[in-house]
This record gives sequence, structure tokens and C-alpha cells, in this order.
Amino acid sequence: MNVHATALAHAHLPDAQTSAFARDAVEDLSQSPKRLSPKYFYDAAGSELFEAITRLPEYYPTRTELSILTQRGGEIAKILPEGAALIEFGAGATTKARLLLKRCRFGAYVPVDISGDFITAQANGLRKDFPDLAVHHVVADFTTPFALPADIAGMPKVGFFPGSTLGNFEPHEACAFLRSARAILGEGAQMIIGVDLEKDERVLYNAYNDAAGVTARFNLNVLVRINRELGGNFDLSSFTHRAIYNRERHRIEMHLISKKQQTVRMLGTSFAFRSGESIHTENSYKYSIERFAALARGAGWTVRKSWTDEAKMFSVHALSASD
Ligand code: TRP
Repeated sequence: MNVHATALAHAHLPDAQTSAFARDAVEDLSQSPKRLSPKYFYDAAGSELFEAITRLPEYYPTRTELSILTQRGGEIAKILPEGAALIEFGAGATTKARLLLKRCRFGAYVPVDISGDFITAQANGLRKDFPDLAVHHVVADFTTPFALPADIAGMPKVGFFPGSTLGNFEPHEACAFLRSARAILGEGAQMIIGVDLEKDERVLYNAYNDAAGVTARFNLNVLVRINRELGGNFDLSSFTHRAIYNRERHRIEMHLISKKQQTVRMLGTSFAFRSGESIHTENSYKYSIERFAALARGAGWTVRKSWTDEAKMFSVHALSASD
């Protein structure tokens, strides 16, 4: 057991986020099959690793979405109201928002992210680069209701949810998220959303099994976090990353596979692993344009316009709240 991690776990009374992590981790590892929630991937190290994934040659979604946003920025700007507040759900490195902020005249930018240190640093960088823009960052889990800053009360609202993060939800959760976003943003809101498309399985497989092993490190980082924050004793060298495409369910599945029979302890609880047993850590659902439009419709949004790249790898949609 990592003594330092245990000391840390006991030194501070767990804050709200740590205790939610503890509760979820114990509950999810007690399930059969075992799982862990992907929202805990994104501590500072996880956020950095994810940024590295977006630069991998095999990982096409980020650069394809960026090229759509760059090429269609003018068209997007035209259909959004001037002086609106851009609210980004799970803002991360804010690279994509910057593209929109350059092209559209927004009154404010509200990046929302669970990773407090990371988003605070990003917001400060933005304030420097866009001195005339009001930036109000919110540290929150965007999958649960949160309050918008009072400063943007009078502005039209435009949600922003790029990166095909929607695909990381179960279809019913994706529907619930879109509904909740509509409730948070209010009447008359709009939304710009990026959604990865179904395609050749080889391309999908390679995107989540990169040769350099960055996705593997990203996946394993959730165990590093459990060791550090929850006093766990996962031996990282006895778990391995595996991503597969599940054709029937239109999704990439990420797993951490136990290389041997072993027992792991965390927060006074033991978890037994068989050799080859999986912890299912994440899904990345892939949509067709039609299946996405139907999902949005069911959640109170109308698709105003959809854009794709030439090879139809990725899609960006402009939604407006249905009355
Ligand atoms: N939503 C993106 C996707 O599913 C980004 C992402 C989330 C991701 N978790 C990931 C990418 C894990 C690689 C590995 O592709």
C-alpha cells in the first residue's frame, strides 16, 4: 500500500467530490460485471492525458471536429444571436470554444468543468487572450443541475457540448443530459453539439487502441486516482487496457482487465478479481445523423442544421429548444 496516499486520504475530511467518488467507486466495483464511472478520469493528470489523446494520429475525432468548426465557423456565427452567453459543458482545454469565440460575438463565456484546478487555469488563460470577454468559470459536475452565474441572466444562452462527450453517456443518460441542458439554459436556448459518427470498425478500433499507449495510461489513471485519493492498493502493472467495438450497441467499450487473480483493497473493502476479469470504465457510442436527430427530438431540441466533414467521420449540429 502506498503510505503517502493513505495518509493523504485520511489527512483531509473528504470534500463533497471526494466522498461522491468514494461512494461511486465502492458501489461500482461491487457490481458484477465491475465498472467505474468515466467522470473520475478527469483529475489534473487525466485531463492532461486526455489532451495528449486528442493529438494522437489514430484519434481522428478532435482534429475532424476542429476542422468542421473552423470551416463552418462563419455559418455557425450567422445562426447564433449576438451578445449571447456561450456555456460549455465539460470545457477541458477550451480549444474548440476559442474557435467559436473568435468567430461569433458572444457577451460571455461560461466554461463548466469538474476539474477545478484545470478549468481555473484555462479560464485565466482565456481572460488574457480575450480581454473584452467576460469569462465566468463554474466548477461543477455538469451531469447534475447547477446554477448559471447571475452575470449572464439577461443574455441569450447557447450551450456548447463538443468532443462527442454525449457518446460517453448511455442513450437514456444522453437523453436526460440533453433535457437537463435545456432546463439549465432555459426557453429559447440554442446548442452546438459535436457527435462522432458510425464508421469502419478498424478506424474506430485504432482510435481507442493507440500504438503509443496513451489511451491505456488514461484508462489506468482512474486506478492511480483511487490509490491516491481513496487509499486504494491497485497494482497498476497487473491491469491492462482493452478497447473493443460492440457493433450491436454501436459503441466502443473501454475495459481494464485484471491480468491475474488478485484482491484489491480500498476504503476498508476488498474486491476480488478473477484472471481476465474486466472493470468496464467507459463507452463511446457512435451515432448516425438520423439516430442523433431522433435522440435530440425526444429531449426537447430541434436540429436546425448538421455539418460533417467530407469523409463523414464526425458531425456538428446546431439545435434550438423546441417550444
Ligand atoms: N468523448 C470522446 C470519445 O469518446 C472523448 C473521450 C472520452 C475519450 N473518454 C475517452 C477518448 C477515452 C479516448 C479515450 O472519443
